[in-house]
Amino acid sequence: MNCPQCKSPITGDALFCSQCGARLEASGRSAEERKKVTVFFSDISGYTALSEKLDPEEVKEIMSRIFSRAASIVKEYDGHLDKFIGDCVMAVFGFDVTREDDAVRALRAALEIHKAVSLLNTEELKERIGRDLSVHTGVNTGVVVAGDLDLEKGTEKVLGDTVNVASRLASTAKAGEIVAGRTTVHEVERYFEFEELGAISLKGKSDGVPAFRLLGPRTSTGRNLMLKGRRAEFTGRVEEMKLLTERLQMAKSGVKAVFFIRGEAGTGKSRLVEEVKHMAEADGMAVLEASCFDYTRGIPYSLWTGLFGSLFSLAENETPATLSRKIEEGCAGIIVDERPAAPFIAGLFALESDEVRNMDAGLLKGCTLKSIASVVSSICGKKPSVLILDDMHWADPSTLEVLAPVLEKNSYLVLCLYRPSDQVTALIKELRAGMPIEDLFLEPLKRDDSAGMIRSLLDGCEVPEELLNFVSLQIKGNPFYIEETVNNLVESGILNKADGCWTLARKLENADIPSTVQGIISARIDRLEPKQKHLLQTASVIGQNFFRSILTRIEKAAELEESIELLKGKDLIREFRAQPDLEYMFKHALMQDVVYNSLLKKERRRIHEDVARVMEELFADRISEFYESIAFHYRQSENTEKAVFYLMKAGKKCIDKYAAAEANEFYRNAYDLLTAKPLAAADRPVLLRLLNDWGWVLYFYVDFT
Ligand SMILES: Nc1ncnc2c1ncn2[C@@H]1O[C@H](COP(=O)(O)OP(=O)(O)OP(=O)(O)O)[C@@H](O)[C@H]1O
Ligand SMILES: [Mg+2]
Repeated sequence: MNCPQCKSPITGDALFCSQCGARLEASGRSAEERKKVTVFFSDISGYTALSEKLDPEEVKEIMSRIFSRAASIVKEYDGHLDKFIGDCVMAVFGFDVTREDDAVRALRAALEIHKAVSLLNTEELKERIGRDLSVHTGVNTGVVVAGDLDLEKGTEKVLGDTVNVASRLASTAKAGEIVAGRTTVHEVERYFEFEELGAISLKGKSDGVPAFRLLGPRTSTGRNLMLKGRRAEFTGRVEEMKLLTERLQMAKSGVKAVFFIRGEAGTGKSRLVEEVKHMAEADGMAVLEASCFDYTRGIPYSLWTGLFGSLFSLAENETPATLSRKIEEGCAGIIVDERPAAPFIAGLFALESDEVRNMDAGLLKGCTLKSIASVVSSICGKKPSVLILDDMHWADPSTLEVLAPVLEKNSYLVLCLYRPSDQVTALIKELRAGMPIEDLFLEPLKRDDSAGMIRSLLDGCEVPEELLNFVSLQIKGNPFYIEETVNNLVESGILNKADGCWTLARKLENADIPSTVQGIISARIDRLEPKQKHLLQTASVIGQNFFRSILTRIEKAAELEESIELLKGKDLIREFRAQPDLEYMFKHALMQDVVYNSLLKKERRRIHEDVARVMEELFADRISEFYESIAFHYRQSENTEKAVFYLMKAGKKCIDKYAAAEANEFYRNAYDLLTAKPLAAADRPVLLRLLNDWGWVLYFYVDFT
């Protein structure tokens, strides 16, 4: 800290600058300000008995021991010891510098004070005062006016309802107890366990104040007890829901319907369909869902392998024998052109079988398309179903080819979601010639609905009008952007809740709020602790979805579990599926994008190399399933030799599946990489092989596309 007048460094709690003699405001604060702090009051239990039974000198000595120990504990946790009042200690955390874990520090300090006081107990003392010496504490978190309001008059450094409530919570606590207010609990529940005491009526408060008794530190971090990133109740979209509900009912009685739902990133396509999904499930319908990803654009049939993966519970580390058995079981009895479908589905997972090995290429491709359609329709035909295909703008060409036969065979409700995309628009045009297709375009939320969503994000409490205006002007109804902005404002302490009401710590126009959703996400990520940020960055290199097994092999950091839970708690990542392999996903594709771009190129390269290497090790016995991903990571790590090797493998795999467009892309990429620099002698045979294999692709192009 520097002197505001001469800028000389100031040490400690000096009241005057040692260089120019200027009077210094305490803690360098030049004026009062509203701050979010955690305050506690610790009172001695049975102080009256103590003063009655002991000599005043003795009481004074005990109290000064307690106070000096309390002072040093509070200091250790970077708290501010506000004052001793009679038998009571008041401490404030977040007074000089706001720390993310102020509330945790406050509770830790309070617990230590409790322990220190209990250590003063001796048999002799107990006999003399007729009870154990102990303290009871009240803790509360919220906004206060902080500053030396008037030193001469000795007025308080922190003022406000938060302080009053903390003091009153202390008076309701029994000997040895720590009682906290709701905001404190919300901020620390990751670390401490509480018992809800219900609303306690406090003097001067018309509504009761919820109070919680501290049970102690958590021994393990529970799954569902994290600080929650805020997620709104489903808001608005009344017309859309009405239409989809209608079609859902029709699908129940066997009338098929196909919807293509279009909207920009974050407008709420997936959320809308999630609501439909809940309704369908509650109605006893089956829901089948699969999604395309940015990184699967070059992987043939990826949407369908994803769908079968979840339908048949196929794990990433399945042995070929189990994989084959599970597929056999899943496709049992399904026949296509007098042939069982199972070998063709198994072929999608790089499992070769005698049935398909020497089959004519054109026939094989035709059978594969029909098999996928038959398996989907057979599973969906067992009971009224909804088929959800998300993020179709990222679909690979082969996945799209299967769509027509799937839709032709269906007798259920199909919902295809996509961001505006030429390839999907072209596909819809083609499909429309053969079947009725309904379009749904998701506009941004209307102003009232945006406001409703914000209220819901903020627990239905009163919301500052300024925030509503800001959102409607700047954010224009994109739900993802709204969600991230509110999370950002809460996490940065600009938007605070105290006693059931949200307030803005400063005017939003002065709050330096990033003007793009990317900026908002960056700000949230920058506030993470370094180890969590680092973990998130590594995950972003693995992909939008990432297996825990890959992450743990790259990140050997301690407390990984805890960090993952914290990131989940902040709703930055979500569990994608727990079975058969634990897999997480970024809450939103944009989030992965922003995190990935926050890495230095050099770092990215290194992590891509690590991911590729780990995948080679982890999936050694079924590596052919991962050629495309490994090729992608080696390409990004600029390991040309390995990248070309795997690109060619991926290309060959596509040829085997007669996916000419994808194969062509892999070979072209391999060729570009290999020839980007003057060719080394060792690369010549590789190039020769590449050109030879690539030639096959052209043959298939002519023949099959
Ligand atoms: N109507 C709504 N009410 C409340 N929250 C919503 C609503 N619509 C979207 N959200 C929230 O906004 C975020 C973005 O929505 P969602 O993921 O559905 O967007 P999307 O259109 O599927 O985007 P993308 O094209 O990137 O997949 C989600 O966290 C979602 O929960
Ligand atoms: Mg989506």
